[in-house]
Amino acid sequence: MDDGAARNVRSARHVAIIMDGNGRWASARGLPRVAGHREGSKAVRRCIEAAIDLGVGWLTLFAFSSENWQRPQEEIADLTFLLRHYLRTELDELHRNGVRLAVIGERGRFGPAVAADLAAAEARTAGNTRLTLTIALSYGARSEILEAARRVAEAVQAGTLNPESLDETKFGALLSTASMPDPDLVIRTSGEQRLSNFLLWQAAYAELVFLDVMWPDFDRAHFAEALAEFGRRERRFGARPVL
Ligand code: FPP
Repeated sequence: MDDGAARNVRSARHVAIIMDGNGRWASARGLPRVAGHREGSKAVRRCIEAAIDLGVGWLTLFAFSSENWQRPQEEIADLTFLLRHYLRTELDELHRNGVRLAVIGERGRFGPAVAADLAAAEARTAGNTRLTLTIALSYGARSEILEAARRVAEAVQAGTLNPESLDETKFGALLSTASMPDPDLVIRTSGEQRLSNFLLWQAAYAELVFLDVMWPDFDRAHFAEALAEFGRRERRFGARPVL
């Protein structure tokens, strides 16, 4: 299906992407992993342009997981450098294009300079409404859910919350994604088929699309293909099919 056809099918309001395969892309070419991450940054740019063009209002990118801290120091430094470089070189254009930037995850673990860059980018773009781009950095869904559970326990202990009154809406409001709609579609590149601790609560009813493309090669056609696949899926949210 071409882009035009993809635009005509029911659109996903919020698309979340697990950008996977940078390392394999690089090693297939005899290049260091950092080369894959560098090309991956270019794919991030293409992906955002495509999201805007295809009418997606919310885009969430998994850029660094809580588990990624176990990678070699050098690779973590490369990824941190690329993130700062991306902000320095792309923020003006993101802002011009009406993109609001948001960050979820433990950004403080990247150090005060990175945290300050991220806060400044968020503040500068806070009024934009065309696309909300959320970057998940040092993010892990289990620890996000645990933190919310801890806050519930504290509120119950303090007598400010009646356990009976806790529902999904109230619990969801304690997560880092409180102000966002749940993702309709989760895309993972590289052919791997798992969620890897990404948005486990929020993606409860998301459609999952796994693409056989390494992230550095991801382009607008892949985005359109995933949206077209989303449009063909019948979403029932657990309800019975209409006979
Ligand atoms: C997964 O590939 C990708 C990452 C862990 C990092 C994603 C980072 C970028 C796309 C670049 C910088 C980000 C921004 C937002 C500018 P992998 O290294 O796990 O690949 P592999 O599974 O093939 O080894």
